[in-house]
Amino acid sequence: MNTDLAEIDLTDPSWFAEGPPHELFARMRAEAPVRWNPSADGPGFWSLTRAADLAAVSKDAHTFSSHRGGIWLREDTLAPLDLARNLMIFKDPPEHTRYRVILRSAFTPLTVAKLESAVRAQVVALLDAAVERGGMDAVEDLAVPVPLMVIASLLGVPDSDIPKLRDWTARLDAGVADPANTEGPAALGEMAAYLAALVPEQAEDADSLVAALHRAEVDGQRLTETEIVLFFGILVFAGNDTTRNATSGGLLALAEHPEQFAALTGERIPNAVEEILRWTTPLNYFARTATEDTEVGGRRIRAGERLVMWYASANRDSDAFPDPMRFDVTREPTTQHAAFGAGGRHFCLGAALARLELRVIFEEVVRRMGPPGLAGPVRRASSIWVNGLASLPLSCPPK
Ligand code: HEM
Repeated sequence: MNTDLAEIDLTDPSWFAEGPPHELFARMRAEAPVRWNPSADGPGFWSLTRAADLAAVSKDAHTFSSHRGGIWLREDTLAPLDLARNLMIFKDPPEHTRYRVILRSAFTPLTVAKLESAVRAQVVALLDAAVERGGMDAVEDLAVPVPLMVIASLLGVPDSDIPKLRDWTARLDAGVADPANTEGPAALGEMAAYLAALVPEQAEDADSLVAALHRAEVDGQRLTETEIVLFFGILVFAGNDTTRNATSGGLLALAEHPEQFAALTGERIPNAVEEILRWTTPLNYFARTATEDTEVGGRRIRAGERLVMWYASANRDSDAFPDPMRFDVTREPTTQHAAFGAGGRHFCLGAALARLELRVIFEEVVRRMGPPGLAGPVRRASSIWVNGLASLPLSCPPK
């Protein structure tokens, strides 16, 4: 790794072909933690790699906007920025705060807790079948179906339409990975039309999330039907591949570190889930745009310049985690990783749900299986944005 840092352009996907470039990130944290990345086909951006700098930017939504230039490397990813700005993840306070407050009153810990028994029943059935067969593709046979079922039941999508949710998520991911790919915008259109028909239907059922969102009122304000449709769109996109990639990435880490699997007792699972989130960091980055001239990590940032928060790097920062390159499920409990964002206002709204799914999955893995082993080639599905696996063949010995 003697490459001159000045020559590196992280918009080149080959840096991410084998997962995040951890060696390069370590060099950047040491030598150029706030580094200007010139890019061939865009205006360039600041690359932030240290946990403390990410936290400072994430927590200052006034200076570092999600609205102004969007959250991806390119403004027009998936949809023209003006359209994308209707989604909560593209909003700044005070509008964003209004959304969060209303959503928090409808998307409660109880909404999440109610899903646990259904998640467990599904996980048990999938794992029992895998142990009986002696193996599984942990992506197809476990990591994909669980979050899909959860999102479908949250939204009231019938089982027969689950393949549609899967297809849209995959095409949206492809659209973020390659802005020239027209599948992303096409999937966005199909999903919006589907959800626009689903939401009024679901409103009839008083127990549905739609009905709860309709009822949720803060200071006399409610969400409109269009806002609920947009929120559902984010849930489909944000809640699927992320949890999937944490699940398969966690299983890969355990297969590669059998001593960690051996250390994984029931009461350690919640802690292990945080370590898995840190280790896998399913989303590599989100971006912000400076609203005024400012400074980050001693570097001068001009109004209008973009900054990329590399969560994948912050989660391996030795100033934040002792011995960060070691996967250690017995690590002192820390929820301070950046997998769900670096602590600002957009902190993942589905964190409790993702944690529940992961806790149940790994509790049942430990309860039902002996140490998993690699049973074939691992295929990555990584992009600059997503850190994922396409296939993970594992042996599944009985307990
Ligand atoms: C392991 C799984 C997950 C990971 C790694 C993850 C990661 C993230 C990250 C990094 C952000 C942005 C934080 C920021 O910009 O500061 C985010 C936002 C968000 N996530 Fe998640 N997420 C996961 C699961 C979920 C699930 C299951 C849901 C819902 C069902 C969800 C819904 C959302 C929403 C709605 C936002 C936008 C929040 C806002 O703009 O205020 N996520 N997530």
